[in-house]
Amino acid sequence: MENLYPIPDDLSADVAVAMVGTGATTLGLLHATQPTVDDAVLVLSAAGGIGTLLVQSLHREGIFVVGAAGGATKTAQVRDNGADIAVDYSDPDWPERLASAPRVSVVMDGVGGRIGRQALELLAPGGRIILYGWASGSPTEIATTDLISRQLTATWALGPRMVPPGGWDALRSTSLERAATGEFRPLITRFPLSEAAAAHAAVEGRTARGKVILTV
Ligand SMILES: NC(=O)c1ccc[n+]([C@@H]2O[C@H](COP(=O)([O-])OP(=O)(O)OC[C@H]3O[C@@H](n4cnc5c(N)ncnc54)[C@H](OP(=O)(O)O)[C@@H]3O)[C@@H](O)[C@H]2O)c1
Repeated sequence: MENLYPIPDDLSADVAVAMVGTGATTLGLLHATQPTVDDAVLVLSAAGGIGTLLVQSLHREGIFVVGAAGGATKTAQVRDNGADIAVDYSDPDWPERLASAPRVSVVMDGVGGRIGRQALELLAPGGRIILYGWASGSPTEIATTDLISRQLTATWALGPRMVPPGGWDALRSTSLERAATGEFRPLITRFPLSEAAAAHAAVEGRTARGKVILTV
């Protein structure tokens, strides 16, 4: 019973499902990172479930946000969602496209691999990277010399010390409230349960947009 949360009025059950997981994680990441208007934040997989909510939240706070995603359709979506700059990291030279942009001071990295490493290289001296997953298959490689030579801070997110007082319960409740008030506008791709295999294929093939939900 301890994992039951009341669904606010006007919120559908499928959106609530997205909020309890992905929305709460987004809030935990923002709490752990504490970005301010003095930051320029680079969000990887910015068209994904968490990425969509991160871009919205940062934009709402007036923080400069660079959203990076794979392909033109996704980058257009990231721009529409409020990113100041949207960049397509399926182009291996994507960092060069940010040469005239404000220097990145925070990286939100749920992708890892080559893309995570390129994002790390973009960080300004004194910058910070928060790691919360490796959708690419491997976490971003970071050496102590990276941290020392550029005074960087690298943090693994979402451990017990990273969530605010009230813990995950508070994050889940806040997330549901934000969706109910429209502060969070989650992007959801729905599949009927009978098409679960297609849903998995869409996730693996990177064609799904936002949070993928199976409906019954
Ligand atoms: N949702 C949660 O509650 C939660 C909690 C803790 C941690 N995480 C972690 O946070 C990260 C993002 O989670 P999410 O739920 O918001 O997922 P998501 O971003 O909606 O989906 C993952 C995205 O990663 C990108 N990606 C890059 N390389 C990929 C590859 N080789 N194969 C497949 N996708 C690849 C794809 O976007 P592009 O096509 O744009 O590259 C894909 O859409 C993941 O690492 C996840 O493990 C999620």
